[in-house]
Amino acid sequence: MMMYGLWHGINHFSKFVLTMLFLIICLLSCRHEASAALLHGRNVLLMIADDGGFEMGVYGNNRCQTPHLDALAAQSLVFSRARTSVSSCSPSRAALLSGLPSHENGLYGLHHDVHHFNSFETVRSLPMILRENGVRTGIIGKKHVGPRSVYSFDYEQTEENNSIMQVGRNITRIKLLVREFLATQNETQPFLLYVAFHDPHRCDHSNPGYGHFCDKFGNGEPGFGHIPDWKPIQYKPEDVLLPYFVPDTPAAREDVASQYTTISRLDQGVGLVLDEIRKAGKTEDTLIIYSSDNGISFPYGRTNMYEPGLAVPLFIKSPYDLTRRGELTDVQASLLDIVPTVLDWFDIDYPKYHILKPSQPTSLGGKSLLPFLRGDDKAESDAFFGSHAMHEVTMNYPMRSIIQGERYKLIHNLNAPGTPFPIDQDFYLSPTFLDMLNRTLNGLPLHWIKELSDYYFREEWEMFDLKEDPKECVNLHRKKKYREIFVELKEKLFMWQKSTYDPWLCAPHGVLLENPQGPFCAPLHNRKPRGY
Ligand SMILES: *[C@@H]1O[C@H](CO)[C@@H](O)[C@H](O)[C@H]1NC(C)=O
Ligand SMILES: *[C@@H]1O[C@H](CO)[C@@H](O)[C@H](O)[C@H]1NC(C)=O
Ligand SMILES: *[C@@H]1O[C@H](CO)[C@@H](O)[C@H](O)[C@H]1NC(C)=O
Ligand SMILES: *[C@@H]1O[C@H](CO)[C@@H](O)[C@H](O)[C@H]1NC(C)=O
Repeated sequence: MMMYGLWHGINHFSKFVLTMLFLIICLLSCRHEASAALLHGRNVLLMIADDGGFEMGVYGNNRCQTPHLDALAAQSLVFSRARTSVSSCSPSRAALLSGLPSHENGLYGLHHDVHHFNSFETVRSLPMILRENGVRTGIIGKKHVGPRSVYSFDYEQTEENNSIMQVGRNITRIKLLVREFLATQNETQPFLLYVAFHDPHRCDHSNPGYGHFCDKFGNGEPGFGHIPDWKPIQYKPEDVLLPYFVPDTPAAREDVASQYTTISRLDQGVGLVLDEIRKAGKTEDTLIIYSSDNGISFPYGRTNMYEPGLAVPLFIKSPYDLTRRGELTDVQASLLDIVPTVLDWFDIDYPKYHILKPSQPTSLGGKSLLPFLRGDDKAESDAFFGSHAMHEVTMNYPMRSIIQGERYKLIHNLNAPGTPFPIDQDFYLSPTFLDMLNRTLNGLPLHWIKELSDYYFREEWEMFDLKEDPKECVNLHRKKKYREIFVELKEKLFMWQKSTYDPWLCAPHGVLLENPQGPFCAPLHNRKPRGY
Protein backbone atom coordinates (compact mmCIF):
# COMPACT_ATOMS: atom_id res chain seq x y z
CA MET A 1 0.00 0.00 0.00
CA MET A 2 2.73 2.43 0.99
CA MET A 3 4.74 1.77 -2.14
CA TYR A 4 1.61 2.25 -4.21
CA GLY A 5 0.89 5.63 -2.55
CA LEU A 6 4.43 6.86 -3.04
CA TRP A 7 4.48 5.86 -6.67
CA HIS A 8 1.36 7.85 -7.37
CA GLY A 9 2.79 10.96 -5.81
CA ILE A 10 5.62 11.22 -8.34
CA ASN A 11 5.36 12.95 -11.71
CA HIS A 12 5.71 11.17 -15.07
CA PHE A 13 9.29 12.21 -15.79
CA SER A 14 10.51 11.08 -12.39
CA LYS A 15 8.66 7.80 -12.90
CA PHE A 16 10.52 7.32 -16.15
CA VAL A 17 13.88 8.07 -14.51
CA LEU A 18 13.12 5.78 -11.57
CA THR A 19 12.03 2.97 -13.90
CA MET A 20 15.22 3.29 -15.93
CA LEU A 21 17.30 3.33 -12.74
CA PHE A 22 15.50 0.28 -11.47
CA LEU A 23 16.12 -1.53 -14.76
CA ILE A 24 19.82 -0.65 -14.74
CA ILE A 25 20.22 -1.80 -11.14
CA CYS A 26 18.36 -4.99 -11.98
CA LEU A 27 20.52 -5.62 -15.04
CA LEU A 28 23.69 -5.05 -13.03
CA SER A 29 22.61 -7.26 -10.16
CA CYS A 30 21.36 -9.98 -12.51
CA ARG A 31 24.73 -10.01 -14.19
CA HIS A 32 26.32 -10.09 -10.78
CA GLU A 33 24.07 -12.98 -9.78
CA ALA A 34 25.04 -14.93 -12.88
CA SER A 35 28.76 -14.59 -12.26
CA ALA A 36 28.30 -15.40 -8.56
CA ALA A 37 26.37 -18.49 -9.58
CA LEU A 38 29.23 -19.39 -11.87
CA LEU A 39 31.65 -19.30 -8.97
CA HIS A 40 29.49 -21.09 -6.43
CA GLY A 41 26.76 -23.60 -6.74
CA ARG A 42 26.85 -24.55 -10.38
CA ASN A 43 28.00 -28.08 -11.07
CA VAL A 44 26.99 -30.83 -13.47
CA LEU A 45 26.94 -34.57 -12.97
CA LEU A 46 26.48 -36.38 -16.29
CA MET A 47 25.88 -40.13 -16.01
CA ILE A 48 25.81 -42.16 -19.21
CA ALA A 49 24.97 -45.86 -19.43
CA ASP A 50 26.54 -48.03 -22.13
CA ASP A 51 23.80 -49.49 -24.37
CA GLY A 52 21.32 -48.80 -21.56
CA GLY A 53 17.66 -48.83 -22.51
CA PHE A 54 14.31 -48.42 -20.83
CA GLU A 55 14.59 -51.36 -18.42
CA MET A 56 13.46 -49.42 -15.38
CA GLY A 57 10.31 -48.66 -13.44
CA VAL A 58 10.01 -45.04 -14.52
CA TYR A 59 9.68 -46.12 -18.16
CA GLY A 60 7.05 -48.73 -17.37
CA ASN A 61 9.19 -51.85 -16.92
CA ASN A 62 7.99 -53.29 -13.61
CA ARG A 63 10.16 -56.41 -13.79
CA CYS A 64 13.68 -55.02 -13.86
CA GLN A 65 14.29 -53.54 -10.41
CA THR A 66 15.95 -50.12 -10.50
CA PRO A 67 15.13 -48.31 -7.24
CA HIS A 68 18.00 -45.80 -7.55
CA LEU A 69 17.26 -44.77 -11.13
CA ASP A 70 13.56 -44.54 -10.30
CA ALA A 71 14.27 -42.36 -7.25
CA LEU A 72 16.41 -40.01 -9.33
CA ALA A 73 13.75 -39.91 -12.06
CA ALA A 74 11.14 -39.00 -9.44
CA GLN A 75 13.11 -35.81 -8.80
CA SER A 76 13.76 -35.10 -12.47
CA LEU A 77 11.98 -34.10 -15.62
CA VAL A 78 11.76 -37.38 -17.54
CA PHE A 79 11.97 -37.27 -21.34
CA SER A 80 9.98 -39.93 -23.16
CA ARG A 81 11.22 -38.92 -26.61
CA ALA A 82 14.97 -38.53 -26.31
CA ARG A 83 17.22 -39.92 -29.02
CA THR A 84 20.86 -40.16 -29.88
CA SER A 85 21.79 -38.71 -33.27
CA VAL A 86 23.88 -41.81 -33.97
CA SER A 87 23.45 -45.32 -32.62
CA SER A 88 27.02 -46.37 -31.99
CA CYS A 89 29.20 -45.94 -28.94
CA SER A 90 32.14 -43.72 -29.98
CA PRO A 91 30.23 -41.65 -32.55
CA SER A 92 27.45 -41.06 -30.02
CA ARG A 93 29.90 -39.97 -27.31
CA ALA A 94 31.77 -37.68 -29.71
CA ALA A 95 28.46 -36.11 -30.78
CA LEU A 96 27.42 -35.79 -27.14
CA LEU A 97 30.68 -34.08 -26.15
CA SER A 98 31.02 -31.86 -29.24
CA GLY A 99 27.37 -31.01 -29.81
CA LEU A 100 27.94 -31.76 -33.50
CA PRO A 101 26.65 -34.70 -35.59
CA SER A 102 29.03 -37.50 -36.51
CA HIS A 103 29.70 -36.34 -40.08
CA GLU A 104 30.57 -32.85 -38.81
CA ASN A 105 32.83 -33.68 -35.83
CA GLY A 106 34.53 -36.35 -37.96
CA LEU A 107 34.33 -39.35 -35.62
CA TYR A 108 32.65 -41.79 -38.00
CA GLY A 109 33.03 -45.12 -36.21
CA LEU A 110 34.46 -46.84 -33.16
CA HIS A 111 37.58 -45.30 -31.66
CA HIS A 112 39.41 -48.30 -30.16
CA ASP A 113 41.68 -50.89 -31.74
CA VAL A 114 41.64 -51.42 -35.46
CA HIS A 115 38.63 -49.10 -35.95
CA HIS A 116 40.76 -46.09 -35.09
CA PHE A 117 38.29 -43.25 -35.59
CA ASN A 118 38.90 -39.76 -34.16
CA SER A 119 37.23 -36.38 -34.42
CA PHE A 120 38.95 -33.58 -36.33
CA GLU A 121 41.76 -32.00 -34.29
CA THR A 122 40.09 -28.60 -34.54
CA VAL A 123 36.86 -29.66 -32.79
CA ARG A 124 36.16 -27.72 -29.57
CA SER A 125 34.68 -30.18 -27.12
CA LEU A 126 32.55 -29.47 -24.08
CA PRO A 127 35.36 -30.16 -21.58
CA MET A 128 37.63 -27.77 -23.54
CA ILE A 129 35.06 -24.98 -23.56
CA LEU A 130 34.33 -25.50 -19.87
CA ARG A 131 37.98 -25.48 -18.91
CA GLU A 132 38.51 -22.19 -20.78
CA ASN A 133 35.68 -20.78 -18.68
CA GLY A 134 36.99 -21.87 -15.30
CA VAL A 135 34.96 -25.05 -14.86
CA ARG A 136 36.88 -28.12 -13.66
CA THR A 137 36.08 -31.27 -15.63
CA GLY A 138 36.38 -34.94 -14.74
CA ILE A 139 35.69 -38.26 -16.44
CA ILE A 140 35.39 -41.64 -14.74
CA GLY A 141 34.77 -44.74 -16.85
CA LYS A 142 34.45 -45.24 -20.58
CA LYS A 143 35.89 -42.45 -22.72
CA HIS A 144 36.11 -44.18 -26.11
CA VAL A 145 36.68 -41.01 -28.14
CA GLY A 146 39.70 -39.20 -29.51
CA PRO A 147 41.95 -37.48 -30.23
CA ARG A 148 43.15 -36.79 -26.73
CA SER A 149 43.87 -33.15 -27.53
CA VAL A 150 40.16 -32.62 -28.23
CA TYR A 151 38.64 -34.79 -25.54
CA SER A 152 40.67 -34.16 -22.41
CA PHE A 153 39.42 -33.61 -18.89
CA ASP A 154 41.23 -32.17 -15.85
CA TYR A 155 40.64 -35.42 -13.97
CA GLU A 156 40.65 -38.70 -15.91
CA GLN A 157 40.28 -42.31 -14.85
CA THR A 158 39.30 -44.12 -18.02
CA GLU A 159 40.06 -47.23 -20.05
CA GLU A 160 43.04 -45.38 -21.52
CA ASN A 161 45.09 -46.27 -18.47
CA ASN A 162 42.81 -48.51 -16.37
CA SER A 163 40.95 -51.76 -16.86
CA ILE A 164 37.55 -50.84 -18.33
CA MET A 165 36.04 -53.49 -16.04
CA GLN A 166 37.32 -51.58 -13.00
CA VAL A 167 36.46 -48.01 -14.00
CA GLY A 168 33.33 -48.96 -15.93
CA ARG A 169 31.71 -51.83 -14.04
CA ASN A 170 33.23 -52.08 -10.56
CA ILE A 171 30.85 -49.76 -8.75
CA THR A 172 32.92 -49.80 -5.56
CA ARG A 173 35.91 -48.56 -7.52
CA ILE A 174 33.74 -45.99 -9.31
CA LYS A 175 32.42 -44.78 -5.94
CA LEU A 176 36.00 -44.31 -4.63
CA LEU A 177 37.04 -42.43 -7.77
CA VAL A 178 34.05 -40.09 -7.50
CA ARG A 179 35.02 -39.55 -3.87
CA GLU A 180 38.59 -38.73 -4.96
CA PHE A 181 37.39 -36.30 -7.61
CA LEU A 182 35.19 -34.48 -5.10
CA ALA A 183 37.86 -34.49 -2.39
CA THR A 184 40.29 -32.76 -4.77
CA GLN A 185 37.66 -30.24 -5.80
CA ASN A 186 38.38 -26.57 -5.15
CA GLU A 187 35.37 -25.35 -3.14
CA THR A 188 35.04 -22.17 -5.17
CA GLN A 189 35.33 -23.75 -8.60
CA PRO A 190 32.35 -25.20 -10.47
CA PHE A 191 32.72 -28.70 -11.96
CA LEU A 192 31.38 -31.09 -14.55
CA LEU A 193 31.82 -34.75 -13.67
CA TYR A 194 31.10 -37.27 -16.43
CA VAL A 195 30.56 -40.78 -15.07
CA ALA A 196 30.48 -43.12 -18.04
CA PHE A 197 29.43 -46.60 -16.92
CA HIS A 198 30.38 -49.59 -19.08
CA ASP A 199 27.26 -51.39 -17.82
CA PRO A 200 25.02 -52.79 -19.19
CA HIS A 201 27.12 -53.40 -22.31
CA ARG A 202 27.48 -56.94 -23.66
CA CYS A 203 30.51 -58.97 -22.62
CA ASP A 204 30.90 -62.24 -24.53
CA HIS A 205 33.07 -60.71 -27.24
CA SER A 206 35.56 -58.98 -24.91
CA ASN A 207 35.39 -61.01 -21.68
CA PRO A 208 33.90 -64.44 -22.35
CA GLY A 209 33.21 -66.35 -19.19
CA TYR A 210 31.75 -63.50 -17.15
CA GLY A 211 28.22 -64.00 -18.52
CA HIS A 212 26.62 -62.47 -21.62
CA PHE A 213 26.52 -58.99 -20.01
CA CYS A 214 29.42 -59.48 -17.57
CA ASP A 215 26.61 -60.16 -15.12
CA LYS A 216 28.88 -62.44 -13.09
CA PHE A 217 31.80 -60.01 -12.77
CA GLY A 218 32.27 -59.24 -9.08
CA ASN A 219 29.27 -61.23 -7.89
CA GLY A 220 31.31 -62.88 -5.12
CA GLU A 221 31.17 -66.43 -6.55
CA PRO A 222 34.48 -68.29 -6.86
CA GLY A 223 36.51 -66.97 -9.79
CA PHE A 224 34.39 -63.87 -10.39
CA GLY A 225 35.81 -61.55 -7.72
CA HIS A 226 33.84 -59.39 -5.37
CA ILE A 227 32.34 -55.92 -5.72
CA PRO A 228 31.56 -55.09 -2.07
CA ASP A 229 28.81 -52.54 -2.87
CA TRP A 230 26.88 -54.68 -5.35
CA LYS A 231 23.95 -56.86 -4.39
CA PRO A 232 23.25 -58.76 -7.61
CA ILE A 233 19.60 -59.32 -8.46
CA GLN A 234 18.89 -62.53 -10.38
CA TYR A 235 16.00 -62.92 -12.82
CA LYS A 236 14.27 -65.92 -14.32
CA PRO A 237 14.03 -65.98 -18.12
CA GLU A 238 10.26 -66.44 -17.89
CA ASP A 239 9.92 -63.27 -15.79
CA VAL A 240 11.58 -60.75 -18.11
CA LEU A 241 9.58 -58.25 -20.12
CA LEU A 242 10.51 -58.57 -23.78
CA PRO A 243 10.40 -55.43 -25.89
CA TYR A 244 8.52 -55.89 -29.19
CA PHE A 245 11.77 -55.99 -31.18
CA VAL A 246 13.29 -58.91 -29.27
CA PRO A 247 12.21 -62.40 -30.45
CA ASP A 248 10.20 -64.36 -27.88
CA THR A 249 12.52 -67.35 -27.67
CA PRO A 250 14.17 -69.13 -24.71
CA ALA A 251 17.58 -67.90 -25.95
CA ALA A 252 16.51 -64.24 -26.01
CA ARG A 253 14.80 -64.50 -22.62
CA GLU A 254 17.95 -65.91 -21.08
CA ASP A 255 19.90 -63.07 -22.71
CA VAL A 256 17.57 -60.39 -21.30
CA ALA A 257 17.70 -61.99 -17.81
CA SER A 258 21.52 -61.53 -17.85
CA GLN A 259 21.07 -57.94 -19.01
CA TYR A 260 18.71 -57.23 -16.08
CA THR A 261 21.28 -58.55 -13.57
CA THR A 262 23.90 -56.20 -15.01
CA ILE A 263 21.41 -53.35 -14.81
CA SER A 264 21.19 -54.00 -11.05
CA ARG A 265 24.90 -53.14 -10.90
CA LEU A 266 24.40 -49.98 -12.98
CA ASP A 267 21.42 -48.95 -10.85
CA GLN A 268 23.27 -49.45 -7.56
CA GLY A 269 26.27 -47.63 -9.06
CA VAL A 270 24.05 -44.62 -9.80
CA GLY A 271 22.93 -44.75 -6.16
CA LEU A 272 26.54 -44.76 -4.94
CA VAL A 273 27.55 -41.83 -7.15
CA LEU A 274 24.57 -39.78 -5.96
CA ASP A 275 25.47 -40.62 -2.39
CA GLU A 276 29.01 -39.28 -2.89
CA ILE A 277 27.59 -36.05 -4.33
CA ARG A 278 25.31 -35.78 -1.29
CA LYS A 279 28.10 -36.45 1.21
CA ALA A 280 30.22 -33.77 -0.45
CA GLY A 281 27.35 -31.32 0.07
CA LYS A 282 26.83 -30.82 -3.67
CA THR A 283 23.29 -32.11 -4.15
CA GLU A 284 21.76 -28.66 -3.85
CA ASP A 285 23.89 -27.06 -6.53
CA THR A 286 24.42 -29.82 -9.07
CA LEU A 287 22.49 -30.39 -12.28
CA ILE A 288 22.15 -34.16 -12.71
CA ILE A 289 21.67 -35.73 -16.13
CA TYR A 290 21.16 -39.44 -16.76
CA SER A 291 21.09 -40.98 -20.25
CA SER A 292 22.63 -43.66 -22.43
CA ASP A 293 24.82 -43.52 -25.53
CA ASN A 294 22.42 -45.55 -27.71
CA GLY A 295 19.79 -48.28 -27.75
CA ILE A 296 20.27 -51.80 -26.42
CA SER A 297 22.32 -54.37 -28.32
CA PHE A 298 19.44 -56.44 -29.72
CA PRO A 299 18.06 -56.76 -33.25
CA TYR A 300 16.55 -53.40 -34.40
CA GLY A 301 18.54 -51.77 -31.57
CA ARG A 302 22.11 -50.43 -31.46
CA THR A 303 23.61 -49.54 -34.90
CA ASN A 304 20.11 -49.00 -36.34
CA MET A 305 18.19 -45.85 -37.13
CA TYR A 306 14.98 -47.59 -36.09
CA GLU A 307 13.57 -46.31 -32.80
CA PRO A 308 15.06 -49.11 -30.65
CA GLY A 309 18.51 -47.99 -31.86
CA LEU A 310 17.96 -44.25 -31.42
CA ALA A 311 15.68 -43.89 -28.40
CA VAL A 312 17.48 -43.37 -25.09
CA PRO A 313 16.34 -42.74 -21.54
CA LEU A 314 16.94 -39.15 -20.42
CA PHE A 315 16.14 -37.45 -17.17
CA ILE A 316 17.41 -34.19 -15.76
CA LYS A 317 17.27 -33.03 -12.17
CA SER A 318 17.88 -29.38 -11.45
CA PRO A 319 18.24 -28.23 -7.85
CA TYR A 320 16.66 -24.90 -8.76
CA ASP A 321 13.68 -25.88 -10.86
CA LEU A 322 11.32 -27.89 -8.73
CA THR A 323 8.01 -27.42 -10.50
CA ARG A 324 8.16 -30.35 -12.87
CA ARG A 325 9.87 -32.98 -10.74
CA GLY A 326 8.70 -36.46 -11.55
CA GLU A 327 6.85 -35.30 -14.66
CA LEU A 328 7.09 -37.04 -17.99
CA THR A 329 7.48 -34.84 -21.07
CA ASP A 330 7.11 -35.84 -24.70
CA VAL A 331 9.17 -32.91 -25.94
CA GLN A 332 11.61 -34.07 -28.62
CA ALA A 333 15.15 -34.20 -27.20
CA SER A 334 18.48 -35.28 -28.66
CA LEU A 335 21.86 -36.00 -27.12
CA LEU A 336 22.98 -33.06 -29.30
CA ASP A 337 21.06 -30.94 -26.76
CA ILE A 338 23.47 -31.81 -23.93
CA VAL A 339 26.20 -29.30 -24.90
CA PRO A 340 23.72 -26.39 -25.23
CA THR A 341 22.07 -27.44 -21.95
CA VAL A 342 25.34 -27.54 -20.00
CA LEU A 343 26.57 -24.25 -21.53
CA ASP A 344 23.23 -22.66 -20.64
CA TRP A 345 23.56 -23.97 -17.08
CA PHE A 346 27.00 -22.37 -16.70
CA ASP A 347 25.96 -19.27 -18.69
CA ILE A 348 28.80 -19.78 -21.18
CA ASP A 349 28.61 -18.78 -24.86
CA TYR A 350 29.45 -21.32 -27.53
CA PRO A 351 32.72 -20.21 -29.16
CA LYS A 352 32.81 -18.97 -32.76
CA TYR A 353 35.11 -21.24 -34.78
CA HIS A 354 35.35 -23.50 -37.80
CA ILE A 355 36.55 -27.09 -38.17
CA LEU A 356 37.78 -27.30 -41.76
CA LYS A 357 37.16 -24.02 -43.61
CA PRO A 358 36.50 -20.45 -42.43
CA SER A 359 33.48 -20.46 -44.75
CA GLN A 360 32.02 -23.33 -42.68
CA PRO A 361 31.48 -21.98 -39.16
CA THR A 362 30.21 -24.54 -36.68
CA SER A 363 26.98 -23.97 -34.85
CA LEU A 364 25.08 -26.01 -32.32
CA GLY A 365 22.00 -27.58 -33.86
CA GLY A 366 20.70 -28.63 -30.44
CA LYS A 367 18.82 -26.59 -27.88
CA SER A 368 19.07 -26.06 -24.13
CA LEU A 369 16.64 -28.31 -22.31
CA LEU A 370 16.63 -26.14 -19.17
CA PRO A 371 13.56 -24.08 -20.21
CA PHE A 372 11.53 -27.29 -20.26
CA LEU A 373 12.46 -27.91 -16.63
CA ARG A 374 10.90 -24.58 -15.70
CA GLY A 375 8.05 -24.04 -18.06
CA ASP A 376 5.65 -25.88 -20.24
CA ASP A 377 6.32 -27.84 -23.38
CA LYS A 378 4.41 -25.57 -25.73
CA ALA A 379 7.56 -24.20 -27.33
CA GLU A 380 7.58 -25.56 -30.88
CA SER A 381 9.62 -28.72 -30.91
CA ASP A 382 12.05 -28.80 -33.81
CA ALA A 383 12.83 -31.76 -36.03
CA PHE A 384 15.17 -34.56 -35.01
CA PHE A 385 18.13 -35.34 -37.25
CA GLY A 386 20.36 -38.43 -37.25
CA SER A 387 23.64 -39.24 -38.97
CA HIS A 388 25.40 -42.61 -38.92
CA ALA A 389 28.41 -43.79 -40.93
CA MET A 390 29.57 -47.05 -39.38
CA HIS A 391 30.11 -48.89 -36.13
CA GLU A 392 33.07 -51.21 -36.61
CA VAL A 393 35.36 -50.25 -39.48
CA THR A 394 33.98 -53.18 -41.51
CA MET A 395 30.41 -51.99 -41.02
CA ASN A 396 30.22 -49.13 -43.47
CA TYR A 397 26.47 -48.48 -43.71
CA PRO A 398 25.84 -44.73 -43.80
CA MET A 399 22.32 -43.57 -42.92
CA ARG A 400 20.66 -40.21 -42.40
CA SER A 401 17.29 -39.62 -40.77
CA ILE A 402 14.74 -36.98 -39.89
CA ILE A 403 11.71 -37.12 -37.63
CA GLN A 404 9.21 -34.34 -37.91
CA GLY A 405 6.58 -33.49 -35.34
CA GLU A 406 7.02 -36.89 -33.66
CA ARG A 407 5.01 -38.39 -36.48
CA TYR A 408 6.81 -38.97 -39.77
CA LYS A 409 10.25 -40.42 -39.92
CA LEU A 410 12.43 -40.77 -42.99
CA ILE A 411 15.58 -42.87 -43.13
CA HIS A 412 17.99 -42.62 -46.05
CA ASN A 413 20.05 -45.81 -46.34
CA LEU A 414 22.93 -44.66 -48.51
CA ASN A 415 24.29 -48.15 -49.17
CA ALA A 416 20.98 -49.83 -49.86
CA PRO A 417 19.75 -51.88 -51.55
CA GLY A 418 22.85 -53.75 -52.65
CA THR A 419 24.65 -54.09 -49.33
CA PRO A 420 23.24 -56.16 -46.47
CA PHE A 421 22.88 -54.39 -43.12
CA PRO A 422 26.05 -55.27 -41.14
CA ILE A 423 26.19 -57.11 -37.80
CA ASP A 424 28.76 -56.23 -35.12
CA GLN A 425 30.96 -58.68 -33.25
CA ASP A 426 29.39 -58.57 -29.84
CA PHE A 427 25.81 -58.70 -31.05
CA TYR A 428 26.77 -61.57 -33.37
CA LEU A 429 27.92 -63.63 -30.36
CA SER A 430 24.76 -62.98 -28.37
CA PRO A 431 22.47 -65.94 -27.62
CA THR A 432 19.65 -63.95 -29.21
CA PHE A 433 21.35 -63.54 -32.58
CA LEU A 434 23.02 -66.98 -32.76
CA ASP A 435 19.60 -68.47 -32.14
CA MET A 436 18.08 -66.30 -34.88
CA LEU A 437 20.74 -67.53 -37.29
CA ASN A 438 20.12 -71.14 -36.32
CA ARG A 439 16.39 -70.82 -36.69
CA THR A 440 16.76 -69.14 -40.07
CA LEU A 441 19.14 -71.86 -41.28
CA ASN A 442 16.82 -74.60 -40.05
CA GLY A 443 13.62 -72.99 -41.31
CA LEU A 444 12.21 -72.62 -37.80
CA PRO A 445 9.97 -69.70 -36.82
CA LEU A 446 11.89 -66.69 -35.47
CA HIS A 447 9.05 -65.37 -33.26
CA TRP A 448 10.16 -61.96 -34.39
CA ILE A 449 8.61 -59.00 -36.21
CA LYS A 450 10.56 -59.66 -39.43
CA GLU A 451 12.48 -62.29 -41.33
CA LEU A 452 16.25 -61.96 -41.18
CA SER A 453 16.49 -61.26 -44.93
CA ASP A 454 14.22 -58.21 -44.59
CA TYR A 455 16.40 -56.99 -41.77
CA TYR A 456 19.53 -57.35 -43.91
CA PHE A 457 18.16 -55.91 -47.14
CA ARG A 458 16.61 -52.49 -46.80
CA GLU A 459 15.21 -50.03 -49.29
CA GLU A 460 17.14 -46.86 -49.93
CA TRP A 461 14.30 -44.80 -48.43
CA GLU A 462 12.26 -45.90 -45.45
CA MET A 463 9.42 -43.73 -44.25
CA PHE A 464 7.29 -44.52 -41.23
CA ASP A 465 4.29 -43.03 -39.49
CA LEU A 466 5.42 -43.37 -35.89
CA LYS A 467 1.93 -42.72 -34.57
CA GLU A 468 0.14 -45.38 -36.62
CA ASP A 469 3.09 -47.73 -36.95
CA PRO A 470 5.39 -47.29 -33.94
CA LYS A 471 7.14 -50.60 -34.71
CA GLU A 472 8.26 -49.23 -38.10
CA CYS A 473 7.03 -52.16 -40.17
CA VAL A 474 5.24 -50.38 -43.04
CA ASN A 475 7.42 -48.41 -45.43
CA LEU A 476 5.27 -45.57 -46.79
CA HIS A 477 7.69 -43.91 -49.12
CA ARG A 478 6.24 -45.28 -52.36
CA LYS A 479 2.63 -44.64 -51.36
CA LYS A 480 0.98 -41.89 -53.39
CA LYS A 481 -0.88 -40.58 -50.35
CA TYR A 482 2.42 -39.75 -48.64
CA ARG A 483 4.22 -38.33 -51.64
CA GLU A 484 4.11 -34.73 -50.42
CA ILE A 485 5.35 -35.55 -46.93
CA PHE A 486 8.11 -37.71 -48.39
CA VAL A 487 9.32 -34.89 -50.63
CA GLU A 488 9.15 -32.39 -47.76
CA LEU A 489 11.15 -34.61 -45.39
CA LYS A 490 13.68 -35.41 -48.08
CA GLU A 491 14.18 -31.72 -48.78
CA LYS A 492 14.56 -30.84 -45.07
CA LEU A 493 17.02 -33.66 -44.53
CA PHE A 494 19.06 -32.46 -47.52
CA MET A 495 19.08 -28.88 -46.18
CA TRP A 496 20.24 -30.10 -42.77
CA GLN A 497 23.03 -32.17 -44.34
CA LYS A 498 24.06 -29.11 -46.31
CA SER A 499 24.07 -26.81 -43.28
CA THR A 500 26.19 -29.27 -41.31
CA TYR A 501 28.69 -29.75 -44.19
CA ASP A 502 27.89 -33.42 -44.70
CA PRO A 503 30.51 -35.06 -46.97
CA TRP A 504 27.83 -37.65 -47.87
CA LEU A 505 25.50 -34.89 -49.11
CA CYS A 506 25.18 -36.32 -52.63
CA ALA A 507 25.46 -40.02 -51.84
CA PRO A 508 24.63 -42.43 -53.30
CA HIS A 509 23.55 -41.00 -56.66
CA GLY A 510 25.89 -38.04 -57.08
CA VAL A 511 29.35 -36.70 -56.47
CA LEU A 512 29.79 -33.66 -54.26
CA LEU A 513 31.49 -30.85 -56.16
CA GLU A 514 32.03 -27.19 -55.48
CA ASN A 515 31.51 -24.12 -57.70
CA PRO A 516 31.63 -20.41 -56.78
CA GLN A 517 27.97 -20.59 -55.73
CA GLY A 518 28.76 -23.38 -53.28
CA PRO A 519 28.53 -27.16 -53.16
CA PHE A 520 26.42 -29.05 -55.69
CA CYS A 521 25.69 -32.67 -56.60
CA ALA A 522 26.89 -33.94 -59.98
CA PRO A 523 24.70 -36.90 -61.03
CA LEU A 524 26.13 -40.41 -61.45
CA HIS A 525 23.23 -41.95 -63.37
CA ASN A 526 23.69 -45.09 -61.29
CA ARG A 527 20.09 -46.10 -60.59
CA LYS A 528 19.75 -49.85 -60.55
CA PRO A 529 18.73 -51.15 -63.98
CA ARG A 530 15.43 -53.02 -64.02
CA GLY A 531 15.72 -56.74 -63.36
CA TYR A 532 19.27 -56.45 -62.14
C1 LIG B 1 45.56 -42.04 -15.83
O1 LIG B 1 45.97 -40.83 -16.42
C2 LIG B 1 45.56 -39.63 -15.74
C3 LIG B 1 46.09 -38.45 -16.49
O2 LIG B 1 45.75 -38.50 -17.82
C4 LIG B 1 46.11 -39.64 -14.32
O3 LIG B 1 45.64 -38.52 -13.65
C5 LIG B 1 45.64 -40.90 -13.62
O4 LIG B 1 46.19 -40.97 -12.33
C6 LIG B 1 46.07 -42.14 -14.41
N1 LIG B 1 45.53 -43.33 -13.78
C7 LIG B 1 46.23 -44.41 -13.60
C8 LIG B 1 45.55 -45.55 -12.93
O5 LIG B 1 47.40 -44.50 -13.95
C1 LIG C 1 40.44 -22.22 -6.17
O1 LIG C 1 39.96 -21.58 -7.35
C2 LIG C 1 40.07 -20.20 -7.33
C3 LIG C 1 39.38 -19.64 -8.55
O2 LIG C 1 39.39 -20.54 -9.62
C4 LIG C 1 41.57 -19.83 -7.24
O3 LIG C 1 41.70 -18.44 -7.19
C5 LIG C 1 42.17 -20.47 -6.01
O4 LIG C 1 43.56 -20.24 -5.99
C6 LIG C 1 41.91 -21.96 -5.99
N1 LIG C 1 42.35 -22.53 -4.72
C7 LIG C 1 43.09 -23.62 -4.66
C8 LIG C 1 43.40 -24.10 -3.29
O5 LIG C 1 43.48 -24.22 -5.65
C1 LIG D 1 36.36 -53.64 -7.05
O1 LIG D 1 37.04 -52.55 -6.49
C2 LIG D 1 37.33 -52.69 -5.12
C3 LIG D 1 37.96 -51.39 -4.67
O2 LIG D 1 39.00 -51.00 -5.51
C4 LIG D 1 38.23 -53.89 -4.93
O3 LIG D 1 38.48 -54.09 -3.57
C5 LIG D 1 37.54 -55.12 -5.50
O4 LIG D 1 38.40 -56.24 -5.43
C6 LIG D 1 37.17 -54.91 -6.93
N1 LIG D 1 36.39 -56.02 -7.43
C7 LIG D 1 36.68 -56.69 -8.55
C8 LIG D 1 35.78 -57.78 -8.95
O5 LIG D 1 37.63 -56.40 -9.26
C1 LIG E 1 23.02 -73.63 -33.40
O1 LIG E 1 22.97 -74.90 -33.96
C2 LIG E 1 24.14 -75.64 -33.78
C3 LIG E 1 24.02 -76.95 -34.55
O2 LIG E 1 22.76 -77.16 -35.05
C4 LIG E 1 24.36 -75.88 -32.30
O3 LIG E 1 25.56 -76.59 -32.10
C5 LIG E 1 24.44 -74.57 -31.58
O4 LIG E 1 24.51 -74.75 -30.18
C6 LIG E 1 23.22 -73.73 -31.90
N1 LIG E 1 23.41 -72.41 -31.32
C7 LIG E 1 22.45 -71.77 -30.72
C8 LIG E 1 22.81 -70.44 -30.13
O5 LIG E 1 21.32 -72.18 -30.64
